[in-house]
Parts: sequence; C-alpha cells; structure tokens
Amino acid sequence: VIKVVGLCGSLRKGSSNRGLLRAAAEIVRSIEGLEMEYVEISALPFVNEDLEVNGNYPPAVEAFRLKILAADALLFASPEYNYSVTGPLKNAIDWGSRPPNVWAEKSAAVVSASGGSRGQRSQYHLRQIGVYLDLHFINKPEFFLNVHLRPPKFDANGNLIDDSTVQQLKDVVTALYEFTLQGKMMMMNIVE
Ligand code: FNR
Repeated sequence: VIKVVGLCGSLRKGSSNRGLLRAAAEIVRSIEGLEMEYVEISALPFVNEDLEVNGNYPPAVEAFRLKILAADALLFASPEYNYSVTGPLKNAIDWGSRPPNVWAEKSAAVVSASGGSRGQRSQYHLRQIGVYLDLHFINKPEFFLNVHLRPPKFDANGNLIDDSTVQQLKDVVTALYEFTLQGKMMMMNIVE
C-alpha cells in the first residue's frame, strides 16, 4: 500500500486548499493500493533550535516527523502568501528538515487554490525548497486554481463542488500514485 500524507498551507477553517485535500482523500478512496492521511500543522511551535534538547524535538514536532517518515508520498495543498509558500507550511517543512531530514527520497505533488496568481509562484518556491530536502515532485500535471472564479468552485464550507476540477485533481493524484509506485518498484529491483 502506498501512503500519502496531505499537508495544507492554510490554517483557515474554511480553507479552500483544505477542501482540495478532502476532495483528494475522496479520490484516493477509489484507488486500490493507495491510502491518504491528512496531517495537521497548526499545533507545531515556531521553529526554534532552543527547543531541540539533546537531539530531541518537542512532542508535537516528534509526532509530526514520525507521520512524514511513515509516508511514501506527500500531497501539498497551499495558497500563495506574498509570492511564496505560507509561513505555517514553511515552518512545518523546516521542522521536518532537522536531522535526520524526514522528507528525503519521498515523492510529492503540489496543488494550490489561491488569489489571482493561482499560487504559481508559491509552487515554484516549494519545488525549489524540495531540491534541498531531496523531495521528488512530479512535474505534471500542474494544478492551479483561482478562488475568485465565478461560479465558485467551492461551497461555503470550502468543499470542492466542480466536477471538472475534481477530474483535474484526480489526474494529479493518479500521477503521484504511479510515480511513487515506479520508485518503489525500482528500489525493490535494486534490493533483489
Ligand atoms: C494572500 N493571498 C494571495 N494570493 C495570491 O494569489 N498571491 C499572493 O501573493 C497572496 N498573498 C497573500 C498574503 C496573505 C498574508 C494572505 C492572508 C493571503 C490570498 C490567498 O491566496 C487567498 O486568500 C486564498 O484563498 C487562501 O487560501 P485558503 O485559506 O482558502 O486555503
């Protein structure tokens, strides 16, 4: 079974990016051999090396790091804040990067629901961060969504209600699944 962890860059209750992750979880349920867990980042303290005592991290950070470690793939859904990734998401990424880097060798995909930019700049910043973390992002399909489009793609609770957008999201999830599976099979061949 391939395990995907979903991470949301917005802490907002009615977050549209969180809505994308709920829709992705629904899609994952229809794909055999794929599981998805949403991992919350809002309880993480701000990164601070003073909180690292003898190589140990605060309990919330340890729990977060273990969940990432257990994942085969990551699905990031995040708005763009001031042309980049959001502060909360960067904070979570930074905690995961402390030794040993729990992001290394995992596959990943990124989707965004954002303002007029549709999150493009933030996605390319995230991909750049991924180079250093050794995260392997799928290149395509790319997924960018403008939250201001009318008629709205989300209902008042942030649930994705547009069929063609669900299909685009499905294409991303499927590509992430296939890419991760390929990586796993290559590893198995090397080990045998
Ligand atoms: C934004 N927003 C935004 N949008 C964008 O496309 N480019 C940007 O640079 C920014 N910058 C920005 C900064 C800050 C501090 C906030 C709070 C917001 C708008 C943002 O993308 C929009 O509100 C999204 O809908 C938020 O996503 P959620 O919360 O619905 O998931």
